[in-house]
Amino acid sequence: MTEPALALRNVTVRYEPADPPVLSDVSLQVAAGEKVALLGLNGSGKTTLLLATAGLLPYEGTIEVCGIAVARPNLDEIRKRIGFLFNVPEDQLLFPKVIDDAAFALLRQRVSRAEAVTKTMAVLEALGVAHLAESSLHHLSHGQKQRVALAGALVCAPPLLLLDEPSAALDPPGKRSLARLLAAQSAAMLVATHDVDFVSGLCSRFVTIDGGRIVLDGADAEATRERWARN
Ligand SMILES: Nc1ncnc2c1ncn2[C@@H]1O[C@H](COP(=O)(O)OP(=O)(O)OP(=O)(O)O)[C@@H](O)[C@H]1O
Ligand SMILES: [Mg+2]
Repeated sequence: MTEPALALRNVTVRYEPADPPVLSDVSLQVAAGEKVALLGLNGSGKTTLLLATAGLLPYEGTIEVCGIAVARPNLDEIRKRIGFLFNVPEDQLLFPKVIDDAAFALLRQRVSRAEAVTKTMAVLEALGVAHLAESSLHHLSHGQKQRVALAGALVCAPPLLLLDEPSAALDPPGKRSLARLLAAQSAAMLVATHDVDFVSGLCSRFVTIDGGRIVLDGADAEATRERWARN
């Protein structure tokens, strides 16, 4: 059997040791290639779960990405297997020019510049921002920055994508083309969002967290919609 892309077992996260946990005893497995929506209201713990998975927060319990424990000595190997889209694109855009930023993960893997540029241009094209390749990131709109950040997460075709509100800044045609692009990826993905419409065509499983605990996990999002309608 292929090992899961992601496995969390009894994961608890506190931002300060003396504080109450913001994630409590979360267990979740995502199979290779499985597309899972992570739904939850503001403050429910979605971003925290993604950050802990990427090794950016201390946690109790077990987290494994492609069978490798998320622990300090393994973080280089873990990050090769993860494409991460942060909620705020500015948090991950490092270079002044679009093409340099989006190609960075490939260049770090010692791919030649020519090959990195060719592959990156194809991803930028698919995301509708190839015409901005030579532009300064400072001159882009929020939605354009988000597409460039996503290109940077996709260029290496990692087996696991952790996407924090990928549709938040996109216009309706942008959302549709992003959903098509993500649906075509063979990677497993965990998509944190409140945008049920966006993920309902993309994901085959809908996990809802509330107060840092998983409260629903099923094959459609209706139970989540009903739960939120009662709030
Ligand atoms: N750096 C931090 N220090 C302390 N508490 C934090 C920190 N970041 C988040 N929290 C708390 O952790 C809880 C979960 O936050 P998180 O950002 O994971 O929620 P979320 O589900 O991503 O919310 P949103 O939909 O608003 O993005 C919240 O109560 C929040 O206040
Ligand atoms: Mg969040």
